[in-house]
Amino acid sequence: MGQYKYHVFVCTSGSTCPTQGSDAVHATLKRGAAAAGLRGTVRVNHAGCMNQCGHGPMVVVYPDDVWYARVDVHGAERIVREHLVGGNVVAEYVHRAPPGDNKLVD
Ligand code: FES
Repeated sequence: MGQYKYHVFVCTSGSTCPTQGSDAVHATLKRGAAAAGLRGTVRVNHAGCMNQCGHGPMVVVYPDDVWYARVDVHGAERIVREHLVGGNVVAEYVHRAPPGDNKLVD
């Protein structure tokens, strides 16, 4: 059992996600989780490149092992509301790709 119910990672230091708005996505997730009363229950962290460059902004939720792609601010709000609070995966943003590296761009 880990320290948090959900541990959320947002790629904010790779070569493409930061150019696609990942800092705003990170801020929205962090602010949204706190506003939902999840501080201490949900941890939102910056992360480095996940080798899915070009599909971003990338967000991963553990322990569910759900990978989200092309997450915008609206998507981040939905992930807070539906996944972190409601426990349901937000299907529209799920990263659909084969396991492993899936870079569209280097
Ligand atoms: S820059 Fe985000 S996955 Fe590589």
